Amino acid sequence: MANEPASFWTQANALLRKNLTFQKRNVKTNVRLIMFPFLLCLLLVLLQRLVDSQLDKAENKCGCECVRREGDTCVEEECGIEHSDLDQVTTCAIPNPPEWSPLLQVPAPQYRAVRTDNFPFNDYPNASCRRNGSCPVTMLFTGTNQSFGEIISGNMIPSSFTAINSSAVMASLAANVAGSASYTENTNFLEPAFFSDQPIYYLQSQCTQNSTFSISFELSAAISREQELVCAEGLRLWRNSASEVNNELYRGYRKSNLEEQIQEIAAGYDFLNSNGRMFNVSIWYNSTYKNDTGSTEIALARIPRSVNLVSDAYLQFLLGPGTKMFFEFVKEMPKPSTPIKFDLASLLGGLFFTWVILQLFPIALTSLVYEKQQRLRIMMKMHGLGDGPYWMISYGYFLALSIVYMLCFVIFGSLIGLNFFTMNDYSIQFVFYFIYINLQIALAFLLASVFSNVKTATVIAYIGVFGTGLLAGFLFQFFVQDTSFPRGWIIVMELYPGFALYRGLYEFSQYSFNGDALGTDGMRWGDLSDSENGMKEVLIIMFVEWILVLSFAYYIDQLLSTGSRKSPLFFFKRFQKKPDSSFRKPSIRRQKSKVFVQMEKPDVTQERERVENLLLEPTINQAIVCDDLRKVYPGRDGNPEKLAVRGLSLALPQGECFGMLGPNGAGKTSFINMMIGLTKPTSGTAFVEGLDIRTHMDGIYTSMGVCPQHDLLWESLTGREHLLFYGRLKNLKGSALTEAVEESLKSVNLFYGGVADKKAGKYSGGMKRRLSVAISLIGDPKVVYMDEPSTGLDPASRNNLWNVVKRAKQDRAIILTTHSMEEAEVLCDRLGIFVDGSLQCIGNPKELKGRYGGTYVFTMTTSVDDEKAVENLVRRLSPNANKIYHISGTQKFELPKEDVKIADVFKAVETAKRSFTVSAWGLADTTLEDVFIKVARAAQPFDTLS
Ligand SMILES: *[C@@H]1O[C@H](CO)[C@@H](O)[C@H](O)[C@H]1NC(C)=O
Ligand SMILES: *[C@@H]1O[C@H](CO)[C@@H](O)[C@H](O)[C@H]1NC(C)=O
Ligand SMILES: *[C@@H]1O[C@H](CO)[C@@H](O)[C@H](O)[C@H]1NC(C)=O
Ligand SMILES: *[C@@H]1O[C@H](CO)[C@@H](O)[C@H](O)[C@H]1NC(C)=O
Ligand SMILES: *[C@@H]1O[C@H](CO)[C@@H](O)[C@H](O)[C@H]1NC(C)=O
Repeated sequence: MANEPASFWTQANALLRKNLTFQKRNVKTNVRLIMFPFLLCLLLVLLQRLVDSQLDKAENKCGCECVRREGDTCVEEECGIEHSDLDQVTTCAIPNPPEWSPLLQVPAPQYRAVRTDNFPFNDYPNASCRRNGSCPVTMLFTGTNQSFGEIISGNMIPSSFTAINSSAVMASLAANVAGSASYTENTNFLEPAFFSDQPIYYLQSQCTQNSTFSISFELSAAISREQELVCAEGLRLWRNSASEVNNELYRGYRKSNLEEQIQEIAAGYDFLNSNGRMFNVSIWYNSTYKNDTGSTEIALARIPRSVNLVSDAYLQFLLGPGTKMFFEFVKEMPKPSTPIKFDLASLLGGLFFTWVILQLFPIALTSLVYEKQQRLRIMMKMHGLGDGPYWMISYGYFLALSIVYMLCFVIFGSLIGLNFFTMNDYSIQFVFYFIYINLQIALAFLLASVFSNVKTATVIAYIGVFGTGLLAGFLFQFFVQDTSFPRGWIIVMELYPGFALYRGLYEFSQYSFNGDALGTDGMRWGDLSDSENGMKEVLIIMFVEWILVLSFAYYIDQLLSTGSRKSPLFFFKRFQKKPDSSFRKPSIRRQKSKVFVQMEKPDVTQERERVENLLLEPTINQAIVCDDLRKVYPGRDGNPEKLAVRGLSLALPQGECFGMLGPNGAGKTSFINMMIGLTKPTSGTAFVEGLDIRTHMDGIYTSMGVCPQHDLLWESLTGREHLLFYGRLKNLKGSALTEAVEESLKSVNLFYGGVADKKAGKYSGGMKRRLSVAISLIGDPKVVYMDEPSTGLDPASRNNLWNVVKRAKQDRAIILTTHSMEEAEVLCDRLGIFVDGSLQCIGNPKELKGRYGGTYVFTMTTSVDDEKAVENLVRRLSPNANKIYHISGTQKFELPKEDVKIADVFKAVETAKRSFTVSAWGLADTTLEDVFIKVARAAQPFDTLS
């Protein structure tokens, strides 16, 4: 059962459990992560408190006024005043609104209509009046009965000034026709005309000299004003039809900022069919007079007087010139106080919350890069973890992490009452954050393929986070607010996800800020269609980017992931015919390589022939068949290309352990890398359990175990957790899994003393090695590669490990590289000595020793004077003896086996001992080491061996 490859869901489950355990270990980091938004929110609340307390000061409080200051501090304040100064009016309660004399809206002197080339109506004054500000205020009249119209319009503009009674200023102002060129505001609690720099005009049919007066009035103890009253001539112009009036108003309208093109006309009246029994009138008024900050309805505040003016004129026509009717006051309704609010959190929210959300990015990125840097991803892949489950679980894992993070953030922000969260529709927030965190994770996956070092990735990611926040807050926002900046460019900028995020948060903050200040709602779905609201574009951009980035990241991952062997167009490969997975026939290329074969040693040639036969008649019991495997690294920087592996042919049956010996740089690692799918062979191929390594690596992975040269372990997982994870990947379940893990732990001596449950990061080098070996063997893989498994082990552990491997090799094929001859001898059934990219010899250890040894090594140590005697002794034993080593009295000789009998040697030494002192001597059979050195030296005559 364990041999069946694990299903998608089994793999996903294994990875998920591993990640959860990993996460459990990371509690501290997670708490720190979640604390970040909490702290930021708290900081915002504190800042808000500070602002509120500042706003609550005496000078901002309604009805209080500082009456005595010392320097900057107020030492005495007086309260109970209704509205102490102009700044307080907007926020204070106004139970008794002041009464204002109703005014007409009149154009400012420099804009009043005059005759020009563009405005060629004869009865307007000459443009010269603009120079001294004496232009008349023009009103246009029309109607069916002109004589009737003239009378009424004549009544509208008085010919004399009614003096102002200083104790009843507003009332007596109403006896005149007063107007102002100032713009109204969005409330009329204070009529701006009485507080503006511009004078109040009174219309008169003819202005006399001394026509400027001054009025003063008192609103409260704190507010008293003096205002100039200036005469303006009222010019009545009769037109024959309403369309003439219309035309003139239209042409007078300000089209540019050129003063001579502006011809403002105060109002137009059409008396229609009115007569002595019926009054029917329509009035043109200009609603465009408004301050930028206000809303459109504002100018209406000055319409009542223009209606009243014409009604009074008609009544006067009916009742006679002595009739006096006054429209004395207008006043706002009373209002309660509206405290000053300044929602700092909403205002700063954009920047702060951008940081909070961007925080997640480095976390996903570094975690992905960590697995890449530590080569854990490849390790998992080599043990059968497919790309599908890896992507699904990693993605899901980051998504879950992000969602939890965002939930904490929004809930906490809402709980402490930040308007940013509470005022905007939660469903919009959810959609926005959800799309963004998905985009962010996809980006992390994409960028993870660029980085290979966690430190670089972390530094760059954090620079990105803070840089993005600052750029967005201080540059991008500036463009967004600048209405003249082309919207198209803003959208281009929003293609950068950090800016898109900022834009979304900015919109939320704008809605909550305005909502708080004006008492309106925050953002609702309906608001998305507002032209000013950038949320809709942001959502679309982010969604499209998410899909694109995710597909691209997956594509790049497939392309770059060292474990896969795919061309940039691998997607199209799907549609091509699949190559047969069975063994291929030896190709014609083989004939050419015969030339090369001639130079090979007979044992190597024999192996090559065996492989060729095997390829013709596939036999299942061959676990590994390498067919003329070659690896050539292309030449770089003018260096010639390097042949790392030159046509390796090798067949390994089930149950064999093959040892690969060879000096450093001989190409062993290149060979292993091809076999485990890290690199692609330049030519030739290998079949593992009948599957071609060029095309079916994924299938091979399910029955493969690797013990890499450097331990690839998760520092924070325990040994047991490692084995559980890899066991699950190999489709072990339930009790089989626990048993396998325990057995495995026991076999590598990691079971007792709680070692199994210690974190791998705390293991010694030897323990890590043993764990790596255990990992490579768990789940009963059919083929195992071990790269120097016993390096760094103490002799006891090494023996232990050897026993494990010996037991393990019984039903699987193991390829083992080592530098320890002892290990090779103990473990391997066959050995190959690999030098300069090709096998120099192959055979079992005994054969090799026999073939390449064939000598005894005789060592003798005497005093320097007796050296000659020793040499003579050896010559007597064997004339073909060969001195291989000589240093101050110690000499080593090679004695051909066929020349000497061991007994003769002993006898000779006994005799020699009588004639001179022998401090030490020895006779040894050739060791594998001697074989190795010999073979290597023969193959690399110019190389110095290390
Ligand atoms: C026009 O109005 C004047 C003044 O009220 C009146 O005397 C005259 O009869 C009116 N003309 C017409 C045609 O109604
Ligand atoms: C001015 O107004 C006050 C109060 O309405 C009134 O008592 C006084 O008679 C007025 N004076 C004149 C000269 O009309
Ligand atoms: C518009 O409002 C500003 C500030 O409230 C004021 O200074 C300015 O005079 C106003 N403009 C006009 C034409 O009233
Ligand atoms: C109406 O008011 C606007 C704003 O001051 C001005 O530009 C325009 O010329 C005025 N129209 C007329 C016909 O006076
Ligand atoms: C007032 O004038 C309008 C437009 O000329 C006209 O349609 C309407 O009938 C008139 N009203 C009366 C009561 O004559």
